[in-house]
Amino acid sequence: MSKVKPYKNSELGKKEQVTKMFDNISGDYDGLNRVISFGIDIKWRQNVVKIIKESNPQTILDIATGTGDLAINLAETDATKIVGLDISSGMLEIGKEKIKKKGLESKIEMILGDSENMPFEDNTFDAITVAFGVRNFETLENGLKEIYRVLKPNGTFVILETSIPTKTPFKQGYNFYSKNILPLIGKIFSKDRSAYKYLSESASVFPYGEALNNILRKIGFINVEDFPQTLGVATIYKSSK
Ligand SMILES: C[S@@+](CC[C@H](N)C(=O)[O-])C[C@H]1O[C@@H](n2cnc3c(N)ncnc32)[C@H](O)[C@@H]1O
Repeated sequence: MSKVKPYKNSELGKKEQVTKMFDNISGDYDGLNRVISFGIDIKWRQNVVKIIKESNPQTILDIATGTGDLAINLAETDATKIVGLDISSGMLEIGKEKIKKKGLESKIEMILGDSENMPFEDNTFDAITVAFGVRNFETLENGLKEIYRVLKPNGTFVILETSIPTKTPFKQGYNFYSKNILPLIGKIFSKDRSAYKYLSESASVFPYGEALNNILRKIGFINVEDFPQTLGVATIYKSSK
């Protein structure tokens, strides 16, 4: 898998570039998310919550939580503790404000940290989620191994990530949208032009469907299943330890 990075002329590694990029776009992120997905991303996160509810977890870790949308949605489960972890302090600040406004501070804790080296003991969480985060990891397998380590045996792991429709004409429509429309929206509405180019370029090379299922199995996850969403433009992956 090629390592697509946000800034072509930067000497920084992918992790530093990704952190910088999300710090830069944190103020635009929620609004632009709704625009680029026509608001369907809300439904996808609700579908993740439905899957998580099936195993009734007490503790949930939402990795790459960003501005906290999934962590906030997860607050409707019976979990007593939800931890949102992200490497970008800019994204977390926006998330913390949202959590405060909703009065969820006692249930959701937002912490700064790297998914590839997390400050938790082995077997800590009943469930772990990552929405649109794994694609940004510096090294996918290291991030997944770390998730496996901190997930309790029998725990549930759910990924929501972009994927590519395989059927004609959706595949062609998706290609046109991601190569032409998405960067244009980013250019018009965001301060950081490279960011939305990176989002579509990284999505075009990231493994999805059976390829990602197999990576999860290789790490040790079991009962791996994938559920394509909205013609396959995103996919939910459910697995356990
Ligand atoms: C596209 S956003 C997704 C945010 C949120 N999960 C959502 O669904 O809107 C990706 C997030 O991954 C975070 N991220 C990228 N690499 C990370 C890492 N190594 N550890 C923790 N967070 C990371 C970024 O800072 C960013 O907030």
